[in-house]
Amino acid sequence: TRDRPDALRTPIVAVLGHVDHGKTSLLDKIRGSAVSEGEAGAITQHIGATAVPLDTISSIAGSLVDPDDFDLPGLLFIDTPGHHSFSTLRSRGGALADIAVLVVDVNDGFQPQTEEAIDILKRTGTPFVVAANKIDTTPGWNPQEGEPIQVSYEAQSDRASSRLDENLYEIIGQLSDSGFSADLYWRVQDFQGNVGVVPVSAVTGEGVPDLLTVLMGLSQRYMKDQMAIDVEGPGAGTVLEVKEEKGFGTTLDVVMYDGTIREGDEIVVGGMGDPIVTEVRALLQPKPLAEIRTEKRFDRVDSVAAAAGVKIAAPDLDDAMAGAPVRVVRDRDRELVVADVESE
Ligand code: GTP
Ligand code: MG
Repeated sequence: TRDRPDALRTPIVAVLGHVDHGKTSLLDKIRGSAVSEGEAGAITQHIGATAVPLDTISSIAGSLVDPDDFDLPGLLFIDTPGHHSFSTLRSRGGALADIAVLVVDVNDGFQPQTEEAIDILKRTGTPFVVAANKIDTTPGWNPQEGEPIQVSYEAQSDRASSRLDENLYEIIGQLSDSGFSADLYWRVQDFQGNVGVVPVSAVTGEGVPDLLTVLMGLSQRYMKDQMAIDVEGPGAGTVLEVKEEKGFGTTLDVVMYDGTIREGDEIVVGGMGDPIVTEVRALLQPKPLAEIRTEKRFDRVDSVAAAAGVKIAAPDLDDAMAGAPVRVVRDRDRELVVADVESE
């Protein structure tokens, strides 16, 4: 039994998809929309992740999201590279995620890394939605900056909207060939048995309100129990990248999904050989954008609570591996934690 009440953590959302299909642009658009809604400071950039709080989602989504309907604190997005050589990183991101957005260029449809992402999602059983991106490139498109997709549809000629529909049904067919029953998201009743397709543009922001709404709704409906964590318990996370960092030596870019990690904590990290037992020397977060030109690129923080991305500096990390577990020992038996990491 726990002596502290559980808190609801932010669901982790992996953004997956083929190279150039618009994953990073979509996250940039969400950041940009927050700025234009006067919520610039609300979105925080973590190591390897972007945290978007519920209030910001609600101001971008307008009437689609009523913050009173939700008690999850927001969404933590992990961007992943589409290039074929980053398969491990995609696989890590996908395995770590509570839910995922599969970004598909609406003109190109499924491509090799789309198929690969689908395999990862299948293997890990991660629920996902499809963002059918670049709808603004549909011939004859009449862009509706930042609007929900229904508003946007109403502004299109019959020709443009049926052209888009053809592309969307092509993607729905490809999902079905991959074994997923799918439909346009507003036709989906049961998101557990069906994949919702959300038409979006990362350039005009059309459909972005819908995408955020669907992700928030899915998380609230199906993930809430999993999100209840003991925030002050010993931290647990997954290594996304192992990186040399000037002045810090080998560091780990980690996404924490449980508990808290503090400076000075003893941690166990999965390595190429035996698990590494070491002590956290520093926890680092990227400096806010405005300060990025200053000499130091990172801010030191005393502790980080899940869900969050963080860079860990510690001795002896050279043999650490991307995808490996990170566990804080705290008041537990170290050997048990080591055995736990070994068995993952
Ligand atoms: P990788 O990280 O390399 O896998 O690519 P990515 O999926 O992050 O794609 P990225 O966001 O870098 O976008 C690739 C190109 O597509 C850029 O030139 C973007 O400007 C363009 N692009 C992305 N989304 C849209 C969109 O909705 N409409 C249009 N017209 N262009 C877009
Ligand atoms: Mg990218």
